[in-house]
Amino acid sequence: MCGIIGAVAKDNIVPVLLEGLLRLEYRGYDSAGLVVANYGLQRLRTIGRVTELDKLIVKHKTNGLSGIAHTRWATHGAPSERNAHPHYSDYSGQDSKIAVVHNGIIENHEVIRKRLQELDFKFISDTDTEVIAHLIAFNLRQALNLFDAVCLSIAELQGAYAVAVMDETKPGYFVVARNGAPLLLGLGTNGNYAASDASALLQVTKNMVYLEEGDVAELDCDSYRIVNCLQGKTTETVQRTVHTSKLSSAAIDLGPYAHFMQKEIFEQPGAVANTLEMVLNVQSISPILFGNNAEKIFLQTRNILILACGTSYHAGLVARYWLETNAGVSCTVEIASEYRYRDPIADPETLVVAISQSGETADTLAALEYAKSLGHRYSLAICNVAESALIRQTDLRFLTRAGPEIGVASTKAFTTQLASLLLLSVTLAKIRHKLSSGHEDKIVAALRHLPTALQLALQIEPQIKIWAKKFASKHHALFLGRGLHYPIAMEGALKLKEISYIHAEAYAAGELKHGPLALVDSDMPVVAIAPNDLLLSKLKSNLQEVHARGGELYVLADADSCIPQSDGVHIIRLVEYAGLLSPIIHTIPLQLLAYHVALQKGTDVDKPRNLAKAVTVE
Ligand code: M6R
Repeated sequence: MCGIIGAVAKDNIVPVLLEGLLRLEYRGYDSAGLVVANYGLQRLRTIGRVTELDKLIVKHKTNGLSGIAHTRWATHGAPSERNAHPHYSDYSGQDSKIAVVHNGIIENHEVIRKRLQELDFKFISDTDTEVIAHLIAFNLRQALNLFDAVCLSIAELQGAYAVAVMDETKPGYFVVARNGAPLLLGLGTNGNYAASDASALLQVTKNMVYLEEGDVAELDCDSYRIVNCLQGKTTETVQRTVHTSKLSSAAIDLGPYAHFMQKEIFEQPGAVANTLEMVLNVQSISPILFGNNAEKIFLQTRNILILACGTSYHAGLVARYWLETNAGVSCTVEIASEYRYRDPIADPETLVVAISQSGETADTLAALEYAKSLGHRYSLAICNVAESALIRQTDLRFLTRAGPEIGVASTKAFTTQLASLLLLSVTLAKIRHKLSSGHEDKIVAALRHLPTALQLALQIEPQIKIWAKKFASKHHALFLGRGLHYPIAMEGALKLKEISYIHAEAYAAGELKHGPLALVDSDMPVVAIAPNDLLLSKLKSNLQEVHARGGELYVLADADSCIPQSDGVHIIRLVEYAGLLSPIIHTIPLQLLAYHVALQKGTDVDKPRNLAKAVTVE
């Protein structure tokens, strides 16, 4: 969480910092700040959004040729101006301040704070970041230069973080460091830059250098240098590849849409088509899609353990049904934040599958590490960000090619994860000789049809808008599903609560009479996912139980589900039962419902309160 950008150029860099912060705001948005070198350090900080910072910039006519900036998601200390970044520390009186912005958590901040307090450093904020500032200042007092002081300081810091640092006595220069949180350099013709995410720098350059764990870099207008301090302080420069970013600015612009969530919902047919492109082109399914070693590893795989959080966890829950039914592979799905603190029994032949849109989620990364340390031999990442930490930590990988997902509520990442996991289940089925060639052809044909099926599902939006008006005045909602549509109900409930703030719970419909039925009355809308599958008759009985108790039913049925509309039973019919693809298709109306309810309620769709896109802290 939190976004960092730094810039040093031949022209005023404040517009670049500001535009970069707007691009990074999805990472955290409770306060924002910047510091620029202009006859000393000029700092502006504000609670609230980057637009508030913009107002301050206009008011103070802030400008400069170098600066660092930050948008925050509070971890240590409430959102306030005092806690907003950058944080200062003086190291030898007047005009010798340093300023620090930081993303991540310093786990040993209390120990270091105590030591620095004993050395008379005064702490003004409640943040762990201020510890970094004072620690670097302390090392500067030992007559080190800023770069060396940063190298020395980060050797003491524990946790996952990225930082950018400026020294008042060195305008036109800044230092960055990364350890566990993303950070990259942008090399422009007019200057050099650093940011948490490439999208913040596309405005100035496509030439990017992705920093690795332990890298510390110094930048001025014309040059940059990187050393790696993972093994302690060093002066040896390391070379990192310069990548040309393939991100187009259209991918990160809103275009004709009102919100990124809306854009991302409607991008799903294309996102899924991109994700499946290689399969659809060759018309057959091959393990190589998951990596060069995939066939060997898959042949040794007896079970699967899926680790993920939030929406990605829901994708894993759907995958369990596919893996068991299609491939006959037993599968457990674990919430990463829970798994990492249990004593599970590891099995070297259980393939660990970590699912994450961002590839930065701290709990998922830690759970994967933990699984490996317990003895799981092989791992596979399903991830949307090619340069993420997760991608580098697994033996196998499959990139969902959804394009940047900016709305905090995950939509296209979910459906592309589902498409990838379906592919994984079918690949394992093939390798285990559970797939006849006729069956394989049918599945490839179904996958080929998926983008069109999603396009059709999006056409029900006008009907969803009518439902959304009814939901907007409600305080609670229940979501029901059975079988592999139960996790889809969970995802629908998560979307609704996340962006509309309506309390929503999902239940496996068979569980209703074991407790939650007590909640049902005319004020409790009950959304049911009712595909025409083998469990439909069971689900219909569950729906009767709701109807008989005065519950208002909102049923997402298939065209052939044969559920009649009646008083208190609202039906939206999708296409005919889509077999394996059904959970992916039934996701669309639930996303649209959450989106339109949020619009009705006037909430901030793309930046729901208290949340951030990439959860890089525990
Ligand atoms: O980037 P990840 O997929 O690892 O993120 C996991 C969750 O934080 C994420 O899915 C979250 O639940 C979404 N905001 C839900 O819309």
